[in-house]
Amino acid sequence: MGTVSLQGIEKFYGTTKVVHGVDLQVNDGEFLVFVGPSGCGKSTILRMIAGLEDISGGTLAIDGQTVNDVPPARRGTAMVFQNYALYPHMTVAENMGFALKLAGTPKDKARAVVGRAAEILRISHLLERKPKALSGGERQRVAIGRAIVRKPAVFLFDEPLSNLDAALRVQMRLELSTLHRELGTTMIYVTHDQVEAMTMGDRIAVFNAGRIEQVGAPLHLYEHPANQFVAGFLGSPRMNFLPCELVSAEAQRVTVNVMRRLPLTLAVRAARPASKPAQLGIRPEHLDVTTMEEGVPASVELLEHLGDVTIGHFRVADSGLLLAAKIEVHKAAALQPGMRVGLKPRPEHCVLFDADGRAL
Ligand SMILES: Nc1ncnc2c1ncn2[C@@H]1O[C@H](COP(=O)(O)OP(=O)(O)O)[C@@H](O)[C@H]1O
Ligand SMILES: [Mg+2]
Repeated sequence: MGTVSLQGIEKFYGTTKVVHGVDLQVNDGEFLVFVGPSGCGKSTILRMIAGLEDISGGTLAIDGQTVNDVPPARRGTAMVFQNYALYPHMTVAENMGFALKLAGTPKDKARAVVGRAAEILRISHLLERKPKALSGGERQRVAIGRAIVRKPAVFLFDEPLSNLDAALRVQMRLELSTLHRELGTTMIYVTHDQVEAMTMGDRIAVFNAGRIEQVGAPLHLYEHPANQFVAGFLGSPRMNFLPCELVSAEAQRVTVNVMRRLPLTLAVRAARPASKPAQLGIRPEHLDVTTMEEGVPASVELLEHLGDVTIGHFRVADSGLLLAAKIEVHKAAALQPGMRVGLKPRPEHCVLFDADGRAL
């Protein structure tokens, strides 16, 4: 079993509060990702779960037992760090078996456990090497192996792929997802990278300034963000936000005027929104380039030809606002920087936010 429960978790450094009452239930066997900008408290919370950092307030339970005051080694967690933290003078096998040795595991048994972990991670051929003779990706596998041999109830990963180059990060992402499926162990994974969060997590918790903004399945958060922070954090290029005003509201439908130029009628889930729309959110893949008369007038600022798709950046006329659109390559061929076009959000994909940034 490996459930983790956070109730009202707080953290003070001196008099500065950096974690403001976090509530979260992590299910047994789940891959949960903490994502958020640098400094929002992800590592601090992970370290509190591991027992490497005191908990200032609230209750932390693992498998139903309160563990606020239980030492790290007795919590059933194993942590993997960004900088690997391998012992340079030990071989790979010794590094991986170190925790077993400390625990007094018989040598034969320890060797078998290390051997099995090395097989899972496909590093059996490296067992006699020292860390300095390994590539970054191999070192990270050893660090993961060191965690696996302890058979934890919960794995804790703190930005484990940040030191790897882009191609290796993609490969390790797939390997970690496969590893999770094979082991079936609860994993809590910290990253600032929204692509890692979207692709690896069963669920994502989006953090901002020591608080959770929203928790849910990746695509649910992408399609139904609770607020502008979550909407803007997930997705690249980020969601476009355009000021708008309410024209009329009916049952399950509102009409807004976008940038005082473009009236749009949208379906809303609420029978009647509780607050007034102030911003219209539209993702780059749902913003169509059309004629000036049909959309919000803008000029082409920059075209990024990525090969499979072109990202167009547009400056809205008479405003400083820059909007991004993903454009099919054959359509982008007709565009030039400086050209005047219209931008039209697809109504079925628009999200409305009130003046406080809450989704309606
Ligand atoms: N040992 C410490 N003493 C004081 N402040 C700290 C300490 N560790 C982290 N912080 C502060 O706590 C906040 C959260 O940090 P951290 O959890 O490392 O963020 P993240 O991992 O999301 O980038 C930051 O403002 C950071 O400066
Ligand atoms: Mg961190």
